[in-house]
Amino acid sequence: MLIACWSVKGGVGTTVTATGFALALAHRAGSGCLLVDMAGDASCCLGLAEPSGAGLADWLRASSSAPPDALVRLQVPVAPGLALLPRGTGPLLSDRGALLVQLLGALPQTVVVDCGLLAGPGVVQRVAAQADRSLLVSRLCVLGLRQAAHALVRPSGVVVLREPGRALSIEDVEQAVGAPVVATVAVDPSVARLVDAGLLAGRLPRSFAGLLEAMAA
Ligand SMILES: Nc1ncnc2c1ncn2[C@@H]1O[C@H](COP(=O)(O)OP(=O)(O)OP(=O)(O)O)[C@@H](O)[C@H]1O
Ligand SMILES: [Mg+2]
Repeated sequence: MLIACWSVKGGVGTTVTATGFALALAHRAGSGCLLVDMAGDASCCLGLAEPSGAGLADWLRASSSAPPDALVRLQVPVAPGLALLPRGTGPLLSDRGALLVQLLGALPQTVVVDCGLLAGPGVVQRVAAQADRSLLVSRLCVLGLRQAAHALVRPSGVVVLREPGRALSIEDVEQAVGAPVVATVAVDPSVARLVDAGLLAGRLPRSFAGLLEAMAA
């Protein structure tokens, strides 16, 4: 199963949510999870050293004669049940985008992709549009929801980061986006502290458990 997490507004928590989703899936019994980094922040979010080797961008740049299993060999083990496909360096070229979606969808693990901010047509938009679950990550923020109404991709669901004191409701989100809210995640200062300390990979904050509901939606 291929799950894409993306946003229409920067800094809403897409990387932390995608990473938390991957950690929650890895903690679940099963065939494990692969976190694919299209945005470039996943290693730091997991508290890993910046990868020095090749990554997704390098695979996308390779000629079509490069063996498809090269994508598997680029994966880095992170924690029990969790591997990371680092972003690599350079632009994310779109020539091999269709093959990428096909290969990621065929992997035995559940694949969570941090697509980051959807900025325009290209391979990131393709992954977001063709994933089995296409999840818009949003706060209860009118400025973000306004942009979501005109997003390049229609999400299959929305993951809402809940902060205390916001006036907008889940119903407001669903009405603005035209898709159901499939999970909510509390904005929890302890999560931000774990990220800042580089300790997220070793913990599964309770606020991420609800993300697994998005699998069923
Ligand atoms: N559930 C959460 N609880 C508390 N803080 C969070 C949570 N999710 C994200 N944050 C914090 O919000 C900030 C932005 O998070 P993050 O980098 O995941 O956003 P983003 O949408 O991926 O940003 P960008 O558009 O730059 O890729 C970070 O400081 C992060 O620690
Ligand atoms: Mg990010």
